[in-house]
Amino acid sequence: MLQLTKLIEQQTVECFHARYNSLSAYGQSKLANVLHANELARRLKDNGLDITANSVHPGVIATNLFRHNGIFSVIVNVFGRCVVKNVQQGAATTCYVALHPQVKGMSGKYFADCNIAEASSQADDTELAKKLWDFSLGLVNQCAQTS
Ligand SMILES: NC(=O)c1ccc[n+]([C@@H]2O[C@H](COP(=O)([O-])OP(=O)(O)OC[C@H]3O[C@@H](n4cnc5c(N)ncnc54)[C@H](OP(=O)(O)O)[C@@H]3O)[C@@H](O)[C@H]2O)c1
Repeated sequence: MLQLTKLIEQQTVECFHARYNSLSAYGQSKLANVLHANELARRLKDNGLDITANSVHPGVIATNLFRHNGIFSVIVNVFGRCVVKNVQQGAATTCYVALHPQVKGMSGKYFADCNIAEASSQADDTELAKKLWDFSLGLVNQCAQTS
């Protein structure tokens, strides 16, 4: 399997014409979330700003996430609801990171189950994070010029 970093470079950063696969795209989008939070945290720190940015994995939650993906939707709805988190449980890590005094001042961290956790090695790739930031900035600038 191609590494997610390679997929982001090939399909997201370098071209939009690669064949679309919803699960790969989903994985890339989640990796991009973590890379973005990390790069934002670094930039805020470098600029001496007292603002923090972190990323969370909320767990696997019974939501409508897979409503466009028939087989996953059936699996989650029929079997999953017994074993995955409900919405309140799924919101817990996000609320913890946003509000809990223990997290005050922490930045550039990744949380799961209301604890600091280790993200994938790709998520810790500072060069990829910078590349994604610059690419995103380019897209925003392009949109601003055309609107
Ligand atoms: N569920 C999980 O296990 C899980 C795990 C990790 C991370 N996440 C992440 O958590 C986030 C929320 O997922 P979810 O599980 O809550 O999914 P969800 O039940 O599908 O909810 C997504 C929400 O986003 C809204 N939405 C989607 N596209 C939009 C757009 N273009 N503009 C405005 N609103 C839009 C949807 O509105 P409509 O209802 O009107 O379509 C819906 O209310 C996603 O980023 C997902 O990747 C979920």
